[in-house]
Amino acid sequence: MSTEPLTKPAVERKRKKNVINRLVENPLIGKVSYETYRDKVRDVYDGPQGALLATASLLSLHLAFGERLFRKRRFELTGVKKILDVGSGAGQIAKHLLKYADRDAQITCCDLSVEMLRRSRVRLKSNRPKYSAADVTRLPFADNSFDCVTCGYVLEHLPDARLGLSELARVLVPGGRLLLLTTEDSFGGAWTSRVWYCRTYSRHEILDTCRQVGLDVHRELWFSRMHKLLRAGGICLDLRKRA
Ligand SMILES: C[S@@+](CC[C@H](N)C(=O)[O-])C[C@H]1O[C@@H](n2cnc3c(N)ncnc32)[C@H](O)[C@@H]1O
Repeated sequence: MSTEPLTKPAVERKRKKNVINRLVENPLIGKVSYETYRDKVRDVYDGPQGALLATASLLSLHLAFGERLFRKRRFELTGVKKILDVGSGAGQIAKHLLKYADRDAQITCCDLSVEMLRRSRVRLKSNRPKYSAADVTRLPFADNSFDCVTCGYVLEHLPDARLGLSELARVLVPGGRLLLLTTEDSFGGAWTSRVWYCRTYSRHEILDTCRQVGLDVHRELWFSRMHKLLRAGGICLDLRKRA
């Protein structure tokens, strides 16, 4: 899949739009060390804001649109046997994995926030997933240990996507599938960043970084026509680890 280079007027338009978005975006991630920032993120998700995450996902239609990706098999789970959901939050993606993955597929949920893992366990009401507290930049799993990884809205909590993407690629088997969702540098994305203390990414940046760490884009996914038109739901990619 190729990404078209931007024409000169498109670059100009993007620059102007980016000035407004940058004013709205939360600046914290660029101002402190990664360790200090990560502690802040952990506190946010451990605390009352994290307790509202599942409701926020429901209201923003993230749950409904996310389910559609699996129900309509736009991201295919049939045949995968070991799935890792990174930054599992309140179990928003894991809920779909439990419903649509093969019955004998092992599911592991991992998150920086122990409190989010607890909330996910309560919400999913299933003893099937394993839970692990971990940072996406240092996953406690061996190389090539999962044939599918899902990672929804986590990379925006990193100063550089490469730190997370290289780890996701490392734990995937060659040919393994990755469903990646992350916040785009749109106006809506800038507001998301303000609320959740995260950053945003340009599509070009994410696509380039994926290729650099050995993740090839199988398909760019869209939740709906409106999503594609307004860039409202962020970047959503179906990737494969280069064999
Ligand atoms: C916006 S929620 C996304 C939840 C879910 N994946 C979804 O798609 O709705 C982000 C989650 O990522 C977790 N997180 C943030 N930074 C992380 C990091 N460095 N490593 C692992 N998890 C992280 C947060 O604790 C939170 O539960």
